[in-house]
Amino acid sequence: MIKSKYILSLLEKAKKDVKTIVLPEGEDERVLEAAHIVASEKAAKIVILGSIEKIKAFYAANNWDLDGIEIIEPERSANLKAYTELLYNLRKEKGLTEEDAAKLALNYNYFGTLMIKSGHADGMVSGANHSTADTVRPALQIIKSAKKGRSASSFFIMLSNNVPYIFSDCGIIINPTDQELADIALDAAETAIQFGIEPNVAMLSFSTKGSGKGDEVEKVQRATNLALEALKTDEYKNLGIKLDGELQADAALDSVVAAKKAPNSEVAGKARVLIFPSLEAGNICYKMLQRLGGCEAYGPILQGLNAPVNDLSRGCFAEDVVGAIAITCLQATK
Ligand SMILES: CC(C)(COP(=O)(O)OP(=O)(O)OC[C@H]1O[C@@H](n2cnc3c(N)ncnc32)[C@H](O)[C@@H]1OP(=O)(O)O)[C@@H](O)C(=O)NCCC(=O)NCCS
Repeated sequence: MIKSKYILSLLEKAKKDVKTIVLPEGEDERVLEAAHIVASEKAAKIVILGSIEKIKAFYAANNWDLDGIEIIEPERSANLKAYTELLYNLRKEKGLTEEDAAKLALNYNYFGTLMIKSGHADGMVSGANHSTADTVRPALQIIKSAKKGRSASSFFIMLSNNVPYIFSDCGIIINPTDQELADIALDAAETAIQFGIEPNVAMLSFSTKGSGKGDEVEKVQRATNLALEALKTDEYKNLGIKLDGELQADAALDSVVAAKKAPNSEVAGKARVLIFPSLEAGNICYKMLQRLGGCEAYGPILQGLNAPVNDLSRGCFAEDVVGAIAITCLQATK
């Protein structure tokens, strides 16, 4: 049973353009339950990687059917050879040998990523039993950034009293450069548009409009200027993105504080996309809101890749996996 109204609304949207999502962690019961929920809702076609025998037995024991679900055992897959060759060709210049490619293609996260690269799946959700690095590295190496030279980053959808916010980057880029911080803001603004969230972007700091001093403040100011310049270009100028910084979180979110601290800002008090100056700030903040502030948190979701690959927290519940699958489906919808 899905409790989150927001996730139910995303599943409804996903049904309008059904995508194929690969789940490499077929040994995990939370993943198998989520696959069952999504497939029985007909919100996505699911491919589970793992032991056909064990997964079928688990489904039978729960009285679940396998409609809309395909199970693939990578070791016995007819596509293994083609995926191995693809991996070798993509990575040989990076020093990958044919022998190593054969081993790596059998790693389920690589196998799933190679399915996407081959057009056999539209997206992947993994990470219930893997670190963020192990889940996303194959995607960074094989799927690659959508915009040349730009780093992929991540976002969380945070729900506060059912109102969605985008938080970025809380998962990937540890200490972004000025340009990376500007790019994170631009990608997060586009993510907001994709999910029907107002693209009002606040570049967060411990300072509002020069109230504080120091290298950290200047970095956010420089990134804000870079992002504002980009927003004037053809790529962004008609998207309705509003962006301002540097802003403290209270000035970004509270209209009374905004009126005092940043009276001329069109974002302050109305921000729905919060850009953190570092992974440390973003990661700590989202976890505090989730554990102490009663917010629902979905992510980290990667942005800026050629196809969606998304990570789960190892402490996730089946409902979180359903949420990640629904979000991945929507990202796969062009
Ligand atoms: C994402 C992360 C795992 C990548 O680390 P890594 O695998 O050690 O990265 P490497 O520098 O070895 O790069 C591997 C490949 O990915 C690419 N890459 C790395 N970061 C990238 C990014 N942000 N965007 C696009 N490509 C990226 C590299 O260019 C490289 O490609 P290549 O092999 O084709 O040249 C790393 O940034 C990380 O650990 N981030 C923090 C994750 C974390 O702990 N989050 C908190 C919990 S949610």
